[in-house]
Amino acid sequence: MNILGIESSCDETAAAVVKNGTAIRSTVVSSQVAVHHRYGGVVPELASRKHIEAIVPVVDEALTEARLPLSDIEAIAVTRGPGLVGALLVGFSFAKSLAYALGIPWVGVNHLEGHINSVFLEPDPPSFPFVALLVSGGHTSIYYVTGHTSTELMGQTRDDAAGEAFDKVAKMLDLGYPGGGIIDRLAKNGDPAKIKFPRSYLDKATFDFSFSGIKTAVHRYIANHPEQFKEQIPDITAGFQEAVLEVLSYKAIRAAMDKGCDRIALVGGVAANSRLREKLTSDAGRKGIRVHIPSLHLCGDNAAMIAGVGYHYLKAGMVAELWDDVFSRSK
Ligand code: KG4
Ligand code: ZN
Repeated sequence: MNILGIESSCDETAAAVVKNGTAIRSTVVSSQVAVHHRYGGVVPELASRKHIEAIVPVVDEALTEARLPLSDIEAIAVTRGPGLVGALLVGFSFAKSLAYALGIPWVGVNHLEGHINSVFLEPDPPSFPFVALLVSGGHTSIYYVTGHTSTELMGQTRDDAAGEAFDKVAKMLDLGYPGGGIIDRLAKNGDPAKIKFPRSYLDKATFDFSFSGIKTAVHRYIANHPEQFKEQIPDITAGFQEAVLEVLSYKAIRAAMDKGCDRIALVGGVAANSRLREKLTSDAGRKGIRVHIPSLHLCGDNAAMIAGVGYHYLKAGMVAELWDDVFSRSK
């Protein structure tokens, strides 16, 4: 079954064609980074407007790349939430109208389930059950995953998401937006042990996270070293990154051990982080746990993961209704 996926929950307009939930025939992502860059974060109203401009050309490109006419699309999957309501509405309304015009089924899917299912777009995916560490700009959560659309939340951040902490620290250091990739690059030239930032484990028994303390610690360090901090950027970014990643890795592995799983899926925008990919894989490996991480282009927001999870919704007989609406937060 050829499914057209559509994603517009934040600042990426994306469309993809995926066959039977696994085979990517095309995937197109149009990023709005250039628009939001100068504001140091996503401006919701601008995001909605840009999605309206991009949605038709992006869908056209996905069909052209897949070498399929619209008439060969058998169903549409679209992100329903969580995300920015105005941004979500663009993709959702587009998908709804197109599905009714073509007379084909459509389904609204959860963006987070999309990220979790991104590992099934790669060869040799994990078997159920497994633990997923979802780290993005809006979420940092650990799930026990028993099926494509069956997830149990084990823990989540109580304040900032990990990606948000990367973005805010990058902003404090005047490095640009989004900060994750920039910090990843700069930290390679730094010594993570030189400037030690606090590790926030909370109670070690919980799978919850907190990243606001480390953000404040970096802020305090900059304020206390106004003359030196510019030359210390590699060490500051390396020290910050290591503190965040150590906690992420520790909790994901403990969650897997708690559930008796020997597989972890690392997904979401922050899963692109080179040090996290390497650290979680080696830390987990020492405990006999294998880590599945999607390719870089499937870590950030994309529509292939939406088409992928949409296939499983449709296979289970779930289809959307005309009056369905988007949602901003997970219930
Ligand atoms: O999943 P995503 O594309 O969007 C959300 O659903 O939030 O994640 C975006 C987040 C941003 O905070 C960005 O800074 C972060 O992922 N990110 C990274 C890296 N690449 C992107 N964080 C750390 N290291 C990276 N290499
Ligand atoms: Zn996302």
